[in-house]
Amino acid sequence: MKAVRREITRSGRTLGFVPTMGALHDGHASLVRASKTQCQATVVSIFVNPLQFAPTEDLDKYPRTMERDSQLLQELGVEVLYAPTVEEMYPAGATTYVEVAGISDRLDGGSRPGHFRGVATVVAKLFEIVRPDCAFFGQKDAAQVAVLRRMVRDLDMDVELVVCPIVREKDGLAMSSRNAYLSPVERKQALILNRSLMRVQHTADTGEREVAKLIETGKSVIGEEPGARLDYFAIVDPDTLEPVSDLSRGALVAVAAYVGITRLIDNILLVPR
Ligand code: PAJ
Repeated sequence: MKAVRREITRSGRTLGFVPTMGALHDGHASLVRASKTQCQATVVSIFVNPLQFAPTEDLDKYPRTMERDSQLLQELGVEVLYAPTVEEMYPAGATTYVEVAGISDRLDGGSRPGHFRGVATVVAKLFEIVRPDCAFFGQKDAAQVAVLRRMVRDLDMDVELVVCPIVREKDGLAMSSRNAYLSPVERKQALILNRSLMRVQHTADTGEREVAKLIETGKSVIGEEPGARLDYFAIVDPDTLEPVSDLSRGALVAVAAYVGITRLIDNILLVPR
């Protein structure tokens, strides 16, 4: 990968980078298209990063569809697919980690201790290997974006983060590799996440400005679906992930819930007013 990078530098092209864990869908494709638009060459990485999974989580059963992914990336016109092995990424004895303190314990980091340490470490390593001019991430993982923005700032990394909107199925479900786990019944129940956000958006639009009331509204919608179990429903500052006391500067409304044993997330941004 480093040799390929040197070649791209020699040719004078700008490089866009889309890090993924594979099982690619239209959400990933939208990041690739953004990179193709903004940069002259695009690298996509596929690496199911063990460091960001807890021992109790779905590392072993995480969907792996390399043949299909590679075909899709070819169709999208991606120049380079970088798919390192776990041994290459974490040679025996590796003991260096990137810890974005504080912010990594909020939202998904609160429910998944150590998760963002794994994300920050692998993304820092990928940035060092690929050395992109721009890197593309989805708003779908809003907490991940906040953690990585802070990491890039704190470590003076020479890369521009570009955040792309959430791509949804026709019925509103945010696309996710984990949607593949859902049974047909669960697939319908999963709509409750988006529905809770829509209800909060509507409640805010029609005049409710009290954050606690909006959170209650969101939680009660999740409660209407017996097939779903709430993990968190939060209204926070999109940069710090700390709870906001009012909506005057806008806010991130984020939800995580289990449908069956599958943990799903979704979010919307409330604009300032
Ligand atoms: P993964 O879940 O494969 O997602 C890769 C990128 O695709 C992330 O930036 C994610 O936010 C984006 N994405 C996923 N679903 C999306 C959707 N419906 N709309 C728009 N973008 C979407 O996120 C990871 O992998 C990993 O944590 C990674 C950053 C690769 C580090 O291991």
